[in-house]
Amino acid sequence: MNISGTDRGARTTVFTPRIDDLLRTYRGAEAFRLDPGTVGVAGPELIDEILRSRPANEFERPTFKPLKGRSITRPESSALMRAVSQDVKAALREPDHEKVDLSGEWPQVGHAYLRDLVFGSDPYRYRVLMDRRLEWTTAMTWTVIGTGAALPGVPRPGAPVSQLAALTAAAETYGERRHAMGMYRRAAAPVCFTVSTLVANALWLGSPFGDDVSNRDILLETLRLLPPSWNLLRVASPEFAALDERIGERDDVLMLPLLTHRSPAIWDDPDIFRPGRWTGTDPDDHPGYLPFGHANERCWGRHMVMPLAERLLDLLRAGDFAVAPDQTSARVPLAGLLGVTGVRVTRR
Ligand code: HEM
Repeated sequence: MNISGTDRGARTTVFTPRIDDLLRTYRGAEAFRLDPGTVGVAGPELIDEILRSRPANEFERPTFKPLKGRSITRPESSALMRAVSQDVKAALREPDHEKVDLSGEWPQVGHAYLRDLVFGSDPYRYRVLMDRRLEWTTAMTWTVIGTGAALPGVPRPGAPVSQLAALTAAAETYGERRHAMGMYRRAAAPVCFTVSTLVANALWLGSPFGDDVSNRDILLETLRLLPPSWNLLRVASPEFAALDERIGERDDVLMLPLLTHRSPAIWDDPDIFRPGRWTGTDPDDHPGYLPFGHANERCWGRHMVMPLAERLLDLLRAGDFAVAPDQTSARVPLAGLLGVTGVRVTRR
C-alpha cells in the first residue's frame, strides 16, 4: 500500500497503488501512454480540445448509458432528471433536522441520511435499490430488480412517494417495470452515493472547519483534491488522433481531472486543502478544474449535489461533528467514485 497526499495535519490519505502511481508519475504531464490501447491526458488545454471535439456517445454517459441493451432516449432521461430534481427540492424545503445524529462511519452515514431524506417515503422495493452493497452492474442488482418488478401492487395514485417512484410505478408490464426500476436506481442512487462520498471527502480533508469558511468553498476545494468523478473516458475517435500526435486512431483516451486538479503548474501548494482559494473565484471559469465535466456537457445533477452537500455540512457543523481525532489515515480504493472509506465521525 502506498501513501501519498497528507492533506490535513496528521491525516494521511492512502490511495490505492494504481492511483498513487498515477499521481506520482504523471502529475503535471500533458499526455502519456497508460497501456497499449489507452492514452492518459491531464493537460487542461488538451482535455478541453478533446471534450470539445465531439459529444459523448451513449456508452460514455455515466448515468444514462443503455440499460440492458436498451438506449435511453432524451425525453426519458429528461423526465427522470426532472422528477429527481423535484424530489430533492421538496426534501430541501423540509426544515433542518438539527438533532440528527451523523456520527458513525462515513460515507455510509451520509448515504443513509440522504436516502431517507429524499426517498424515505418510497416503497422498500425501490429504496433497496440504493443499497450500498449492490454494485452498479452486478447480477445481484438484477435479481433485486427482477424480484421487485414481480411483486404485486404499486403505490396508489396520490400516495406520498417521490416523483421518481411515481414515474417508476407507472410502468405496466413486467418488462417495463424491470426497466423502470433499473432507471430508478440510475437516477436515485447517484444522489446518495455521490453526495455522501463528496461530504465524506470534505470531512476527511478539512474537519473541523473554521467558522469563517463557507460550505461552498469547502466543497469546491474538496472537489479539487478528491474529485468523486476522477476520470472521464472517451473511446477511440479520429477526432482525437487529429488533435495530438501521441494519440493514435485506435487509442481510447482517459482524461484525469484528479491529476489536473493537483498540477503544480495550475495551483499554488496543489496538495494543500485551502478552501479560501475559491473565495471570489468562479469555478466554472477556472482552467483545469472540471469536477462536473466539460462546459459543453456538464453534469446534469450538479444543481442538486451542491445544496444537498451544503445541507449535510450545515448539520455536521451545527452538531460539532468531525473526524475522530485519533484517526490518522483513510483509504481511497480504486472505484468508480473516488472517495475515502471508513471515516469515523464523532461529536467533538
Ligand atoms: C458529487 C457529485 C457528482 C459529480 C462529481 C458528478 C460528475 C459528473 C461528471 C464529471 C459528468 C460528465 C461525465 C462525462 O463527460 O463523461 C457528469 C455527467 C452527468 N451527471 Fe453527474 N456528478 C455528480 C452527481 C450527479 C447526480 C446526483 C446525478 C443525477 C441524479 C448526476 C447526473 C449526471 C448526468 C445525467 C450526466 C450527463 C451524462 C449522462 O447521461 O450520464 N450526476 N457528472
